[in-house]
Amino acid sequence: MTLDAVILAAGQGSRMRSNLPKVLHTVAGKSMLQHVIDTAESLSCEKVHIVIGHGAEQLRQAMPEANVNWVLQAEQKGTGHAVAQALPAIDDAAKVLVLYGDVPLISAATLENLLAADNDSLNILTVTLTDPSGYGRIIRDQADRVCAIVEQKDASADQLAVREVNTGILAVSAKHLNNWLPRLQANNAQGEYYLTDIVAMAVADGVSISVTKASDAMEVQGANNRRQLHDLERYYQGQQVDALMNAGVSFADAARVDIRGVLCAGEDVFIDVNCVFEGDVSLGDGVSVGPNCILRNCSIGAGSQIKANTMIEESQLSENCDVGPYARLRPGSVLAENAKVGNFVETKKANIGRGSKVNHLSYIGDAEIGEGVNVGAGTITCNYDGVNKSKTEIGDGSFIGSNTALVAPVIVGKGATVGAGSTITSNIADGELAVARAKQRNIAVWKRPTKK
Ligand code: UD1
Ligand code: CA
Repeated sequence: MTLDAVILAAGQGSRMRSNLPKVLHTVAGKSMLQHVIDTAESLSCEKVHIVIGHGAEQLRQAMPEANVNWVLQAEQKGTGHAVAQALPAIDDAAKVLVLYGDVPLISAATLENLLAADNDSLNILTVTLTDPSGYGRIIRDQADRVCAIVEQKDASADQLAVREVNTGILAVSAKHLNNWLPRLQANNAQGEYYLTDIVAMAVADGVSISVTKASDAMEVQGANNRRQLHDLERYYQGQQVDALMNAGVSFADAARVDIRGVLCAGEDVFIDVNCVFEGDVSLGDGVSVGPNCILRNCSIGAGSQIKANTMIEESQLSENCDVGPYARLRPGSVLAENAKVGNFVETKKANIGRGSKVNHLSYIGDAEIGEGVNVGAGTITCNYDGVNKSKTEIGDGSFIGSNTALVAPVIVGKGATVGAGSTITSNIADGELAVARAKQRNIAVWKRPTKK
């Protein structure tokens, strides 16, 4: 049986008090809707249908790449009406999984359990809450079989006491939905076409109802306001930290780290407080990351040390590199083994060879630095003439004196030396010494001015 997912996302989400449609609000840097789409796709759905209404255009425009079927529900007449809008695009022989764009943390594992149940039954996902208020209650008969879902606003006092609630997530064949949804009626407290009414229809039609329990309340928790969104974020961050701890990573404080993407880490990695990891980041065995670092789409080789207040984007570091404190590695920085980039150094599109050091106050951009090079404090690669970018090459074993300006394009040969304070505008051959600064003059007979 093929599987189609229908993600409901037509509601307004007014409690967010936001210009942004609710499902575009993010958890761990990714929209809630994208979380749900990704999970659906991981279940190898044939097609993902998204029912949109409020902010429909904004949603479509925000996700131009999404390989989904956008279904417009012009008027929000209830969850049953919403699913019905997607049905015409779904094969009668398919199974339908109903998900919610504002319930971002539903796990693939739980959905797999839900989908494992009999294809001909109605499979609902429930959860038991200490405080069930607001949710549809799961009503069971004497034999403990589910016979109905009753919404809070329609429930009797007895029914309100039930703590097992409807998460809204369910799986059922399109064939059954085609039979049931056209028969829904809106004669309830909210005047809506409730998807939940198909439970009573299933009972009437002799279709069995199977229940899967969510593994915890947070995975079926929706975000209706910013507090709930925040709580989902912290929960999700906590889950990622737990997984990393199990994989051998130590955190100075599990509550003071944010992973907005995928962080892969080896064993014996240490992460200090207030670090942010974005996109795909990998940390080799034994890497330590100091406090207040931001790492985005980069890989850090085993044994490297990233010291406090360093920012690294789209860069690759080999093993045993030493970076920071206060270093900024911009896109295209590639450090070979044992390279060092120290405080207040900015690099961009720069290869820094094995064991080379750029330790203090430098800008290294569009540069190719060989092995064992020492770049003195305050060295600048002048890569931009106001129009074009040009390259600086520095050969193995060279020594660049402090406060040197290397005006690119320029090549410094192997084993060359540049005197401090030089402005280098022409190439230097292997082994040469280049000094390009005004000669010092000492004036012996000289008096300071005096006050008139
Ligand atoms: C629904 C369930 C309730 C369950 C709860 C879990 C029904 C009738 N009730 O109640 O049993 O406990 O979810 O959170 O299904 N939506 C649309 N179009 C519509 C109406 C809703 O797309 O016409 C979307 C909303 O954007 C939202 C979701 O469906 O993402 C749920 O709708 P909402 O009105 O919040 O349902 P609840 O009253 O919370
Ligand atoms: Ca709701």
